[in-house]
Amino acid sequence: MNTAISCVWRDPITDAEMVDLVGSHGGNAQPGWWDRIREYSLGWVGARDGEGTLVGFVNVAWDGGDHAFLIDTKTRGSWQRRGVGTAVVELAAERARAAGCEWLHVDFRPELGDFYFGACGFRPTDAGLIRLPSAG
Ligand SMILES: CC(C)(COP(=O)(O)OP(=O)(O)OC[C@H]1O[C@@H](n2cnc3c(N)ncnc32)[C@H](O)[C@@H]1OP(=O)(O)O)[C@@H](O)C(=O)NCCC(=O)NCCS
Repeated sequence: MNTAISCVWRDPITDAEMVDLVGSHGGNAQPGWWDRIREYSLGWVGARDGEGTLVGFVNVAWDGGDHAFLIDTKTRGSWQRRGVGTAVVELAAERARAAGCEWLHVDFRPELGDFYFGACGFRPTDAGLIRLPSAG
């Protein structure tokens, strides 16, 4: 990873920084989203460049016991393919382990297999999914 980057568990990321980060990779930024959901996480990782700009993020939800769930991995558009995503996931896994979790789950689009399986060390498993608005 680029040595100018620092990754911090529970980095004090503001809602405005999150909006900027999401917009930087072409995502659909929603003001207020981060302020609304942060309290439900086991934790999250923020990665910042040497000037303090937020360049990477991943959130860790959990069941309060053995299972942690990685969600919303994001790298600033201009910083992608430089190891930031791998680094935030690595620290998230370390902190989930330290919190007593045994399993770290993630799901993702097929084209990100090289990232999650290759770079981050996940392995395939059986999983299930229901699209709720069209169910029942
Ligand atoms: C997915 C994402 C977080 C990866 O972050 P990143 O910082 O670019 O990842 P890394 O630099 O650590 O990538 C490590 C390796 O993973 C693989 N990889 C990373 N991004 C990839 C992509 N978009 N497609 C396929 N493989 C990818 C590559 O093998 C890469 O190594 P290489 O650059 O030497 O080829 C980033 O592309 C992103 O923010 N995308 C938009 C948001 C998103 O889709 N998040 C995923 C939610 S599940």
